[in-house]
Amino acid sequence: MTTMVDVARRAGVSVATVSHVLNGTRPVRPDTRAAVLGAIEELGYTHNTLARSLVTARTRSIGLAVSAISNPYFTEILQGVEAGALRAGYSLLIADPHDDPQHERKVVQLLHERRVDGMIVAPSAEPAEMAAYLARREVPTVFLDRLVGEEHDQVCAESTGPVRQLVEHLADAGHTRIGLVAGLPGLSTTTERVQGYRAGLRSRGLPFAPELLAGGNSEAEGAEDATRHLLAAPEPPTALITANNAMTIGALRALRDLGRDVPRDIALACFDDFSWADLFSPRLTAIAQPSREIGATAVRLLLERLAEPGRPPRTVRLPCTFVHRTSCGCPETGPATAPGPAAPPAAQAAHQAEEAAHRAAQAAPPAVPAAAQAAQERNPSP
Ligand code: HPA
Repeated sequence: MTTMVDVARRAGVSVATVSHVLNGTRPVRPDTRAAVLGAIEELGYTHNTLARSLVTARTRSIGLAVSAISNPYFTEILQGVEAGALRAGYSLLIADPHDDPQHERKVVQLLHERRVDGMIVAPSAEPAEMAAYLARREVPTVFLDRLVGEEHDQVCAESTGPVRQLVEHLADAGHTRIGLVAGLPGLSTTTERVQGYRAGLRSRGLPFAPELLAGGNSEAEGAEDATRHLLAAPEPPTALITANNAMTIGALRALRDLGRDVPRDIALACFDDFSWADLFSPRLTAIAQPSREIGATAVRLLLERLAEPGRPPRTVRLPCTFVHRTSCGCPETGPATAPGPAAPPAAQAAHQAEEAAHRAAQAAPPAVPAAAQAAQERNPSP
């Protein structure tokens, strides 16, 4: 097997110089560097980073534990993490805890036993054991998406403001019975989205009606059942908010099976945008999370922690974007979306321009959304 000594001999340099080229530990003159890289290619040499790890006690690797990797939201987070890690010269070890606290504890231990330099974890609804395991061993860790506590480094998107904005948007279109399909109990995202829902109702003077809130367990099947349940009520909602992308799929399935047209029979606004949300008919009005940025920020926080273990923990919240399409059923010149923490103006303007172009190509919808109109007739506003 080719060794560093062989490479050094072929390139006519010292072993230390080869090491500096491979590890970036010291600047090397460009012609010397080229000679070393040429010798490496010629001889087919592969750098053994494990040997280096024995010396430095660092593996330049990050453990990433994220459930539902196939969910486009988490896939994009993963892309953000991977890009950030690669840029910093780190590789990733990935595990899926399947949102199961026992499994989560196990995979976190497995990753740690591979001696990753730090961990990035999207915690389950019961993260205490896993967090204690990492804390006891002082593993540099960043939590993402679901918050665990301000004593940790963590990053997530804003949830409360954006959901409040969806409620206000639907209320301004005339809806007084707005349902929410909420996520898995125990997740901070679920709690905050329910808080946003209640804040939106409050700000528009609408009462909170417990029968309009149903748990969809953060997944499609749960949301399908929840939607059927909501629509079976004596006074069903005329507008629905789904609290994540998987639950939007479930809600759409239930609405299709029940023969309800969106937005004619019921308006729909979703948390989470995804790349094919504008291919649905109608196109989905949604809150877009900065998923890649969440991943990139998690890596940045972790690298900062590795560089400065004693610095105070940080919680970073990133803004979302309101993507106004047609499933909310509001008229062409319909209610302006309330500016809020959810909407960086530039991104919103871009979406609105895109929306205007799309709408221009379509026939004008009725001045008042049918679902809201029917609701107003049944349940006139005070
Ligand atoms: N958290 C936040 N957003 C999401 C999730 C989640 O667990 N799933 C889909 N979108």
